Amino acid sequence: MTTTVTKNRLIEEIQEWKEKRNAIILAHNYEIPEVQDIADVLGDSLMLARAAAETTADVIVFCGVHFMAETAAVLNPEKTVLLPDLEAGCSLADSITADQLRDWKAEHPEAVVVAYVNTTAEVKALSDYCCTSSNAVAIVNSIPADQEILFLPDMFLGAFVQKETGRENMHIWMGECHVHAGIRPEQVEDVMTKHPDAELLVHPECGCSTSSMYLTAEGVLPQEKTHILSTGHMLKHAENAAADEFIVATEVGIIHQMQKKNPEKRFIAANAEAICPFMKMITLEKVLAALKENQHVITVPEATANKAKRAIERMIAIG
Ligand code: 13P
Ligand code: SF4
Repeated sequence: MTTTVTKNRLIEEIQEWKEKRNAIILAHNYEIPEVQDIADVLGDSLMLARAAAETTADVIVFCGVHFMAETAAVLNPEKTVLLPDLEAGCSLADSITADQLRDWKAEHPEAVVVAYVNTTAEVKALSDYCCTSSNAVAIVNSIPADQEILFLPDMFLGAFVQKETGRENMHIWMGECHVHAGIRPEQVEDVMTKHPDAELLVHPECGCSTSSMYLTAEGVLPQEKTHILSTGHMLKHAENAAADEFIVATEVGIIHQMQKKNPEKRFIAANAEAICPFMKMITLEKVLAALKENQHVITVPEATANKAKRAIERMIAIG
């Protein structure tokens, strides 16, 4: 257990090493509170990819998961990208391999591939566009309506995008994030019954997102109080909305930031057990070790990086 004194000392040392190495710390909204609090940039996947593309720092310490650090490495081959724990993976990124994508493409030779950013660099290299939950709808809308699309790997995000765009020529890979898929519609309904005045914020990766859309369309959930949003847009919405109670259907780490920015409002997890074990692996001790020991350096082979970069740059440009 880190005491306050040890924690303050760790933070001081991290600051010293950050200056020494001209480093920047990027952290995802699901990281543990202490790591969120020391980040130079805290955000959703799109915001972090943009920050990685724009930084003038020499070293990027990525407090997130492996595919995020890989994306930063693709955008910055000349910089050092560090992931403080190599075990920080992603069950969604693991749900499709490059070989599986090659086979799928062979079945649909005319299709363009839209890959969610939660994929390996090898999968991105075989894709035409990348997207995040913030801009998936805008990316699909930017593709001519008669163009067949392969959308991967998240089936819930795919169903959400299909519904929003009205696109019928879109094939969806049946992958899922085990954390978001575990947030079930019946849990959301139960929490909503207990908090009838709360607004509902749902991440499109959730098992409950398609049913939330259906229930909203049917008038069961009030349209004006149900919002399907990326983690970054959830934070903005929580700040700007007039409501003072919110049910949050995503990984619970985001509640730290919501509560910090809006101390007078109340945030209730739709499922308090929606915890991503990968996002919780990075600690202050590991951030310090990363800076001191230059670990763990994430690189992507040049040929893969060059191909993946095209899809990633399209993602950064749109939405
Ligand atoms: P966003 O932060 O882009 O909404 O994505 C959530 C997520 O699960 C990242 O792994
Ligand atoms: Fe991957 Fe899900 Fe964790 Fe996000 S929450 S990093 S999609 S396992």
